[in-house]
Amino acid sequence: MKVKFAVVGAGHIGKRHAEMVMRNPEAELVAIADIRPADELGVQAFNVPVFSSLDAMLETGPEFDVLCVATPNGLHAAHALAGLNARKHVVIEKPMALTKADCEKVIHQAMAVHKMVFCVMQNRYSPPSVWIKELLANGTLGRIHMVQVNCYWNRDERYYKSGGWKGTQSLDGGTLFTQFSHFIDIMYWLFGDIHDIKATFADFTHQANTEFEDSGSVNFRFRDGGLGCLNYSTAVWDTNFESSITIMGSHGTVKIGGQYMNEVEYCHIQGYTMPELPPANPANDYGPYKGSAANHNYIFDNVIEAIKRGGVPTTNAMEGLKVVEIIENIYQQNPWFRTKKDRLSAGKA
Ligand SMILES: NC(=O)c1ccc[n+]([C@@H]2O[C@H](COP(=O)([O-])OP(=O)(O)OC[C@H]3O[C@@H](n4cnc5c(N)ncnc54)[C@H](O)[C@@H]3O)[C@@H](O)[C@H]2O)c1
Repeated sequence: MKVKFAVVGAGHIGKRHAEMVMRNPEAELVAIADIRPADELGVQAFNVPVFSSLDAMLETGPEFDVLCVATPNGLHAAHALAGLNARKHVVIEKPMALTKADCEKVIHQAMAVHKMVFCVMQNRYSPPSVWIKELLANGTLGRIHMVQVNCYWNRDERYYKSGGWKGTQSLDGGTLFTQFSHFIDIMYWLFGDIHDIKATFADFTHQANTEFEDSGSVNFRFRDGGLGCLNYSTAVWDTNFESSITIMGSHGTVKIGGQYMNEVEYCHIQGYTMPELPPANPANDYGPYKGSAANHNYIFDNVIEAIKRGGVPTTNAMEGLKVVEIIENIYQQNPWFRTKKDRLSAGKA
């Protein structure tokens, strides 16, 4: 029996979900829902019914097992809850929601109806991520002293189109949610929770097209020991520069870099020889700008494995919640700067 999927939100990434389902021999795509007119979506090739709302798809559409939520960030929780209420498993694009409280609602509902929640954090499947996870699990790097995450990307007017959801506080939520939650997920996955957070934000080039900061510098401690910092920006001119993580442990130092943490740039560890890693998948290509790794196929393999053969979600709802909580905690360090609206109303823009 094939696992039946439906997708809500047939934009860039929703169509990728649909493609991944179509390519998987154990999966079947049965429906799509989007509020835009069907002929604007570019989904004819999928040859499935297209509904003008999630409610319409759930009420009158075909039966299915898994709802993929690929709508704007601020709608994830409501759409996931609707899917769970209709007794579907849900795959939720990153970030899981824009508040920890919304993540909790999704988790409670999933437990109430005994359905699974899969969060999409596909960078975990990149060969350098798999490699460093194992290295840390084995203790090869020794005690962790310092971790530095740098995310320097370009997002300009080619990305923030007027009238779109990107750049809005309510549907996008901020740079850490939309652009950099993947890297916060990797950091959390590798080193666990953080505390003692101090953050400074700035808006260098996005006064006209976002309601929030474009850059930030965040310092913190890991609960398991060690100091960390996260520097990020979408104000890099013209093109993405890098997303990197530098880890200094008592037995060695590693830097993983590239545009989306896809290359091991440095590895010097006591008594250790770096193995050759398989090549990473290319970045998601959106024309003028590039995103994270094109690894969504692994997410769907995992969903099918979990549903058909009792596997466990690689990024479960608790982990999705923790990433949202960390971002919320970072932004709460400086709520005055969090939105331009706040700054403007405070007369300090
Ligand atoms: N995992 C990744 O690497 C990755 C990459 C890009 C985007 N994303 C995430 O995927 C989600 C979508 O991003 P995108 O770039 O595809 O955006 P998009 O704007 O291209 O697509 C969003 C779609 O949702 C539809 N939509 C909006 N409101 C709706 C509603 N109420 N009901 C049904 N459909 C609705 C829009 O019409 C649009 O077609 C976001 O949460 C984003 O953070 C993840």
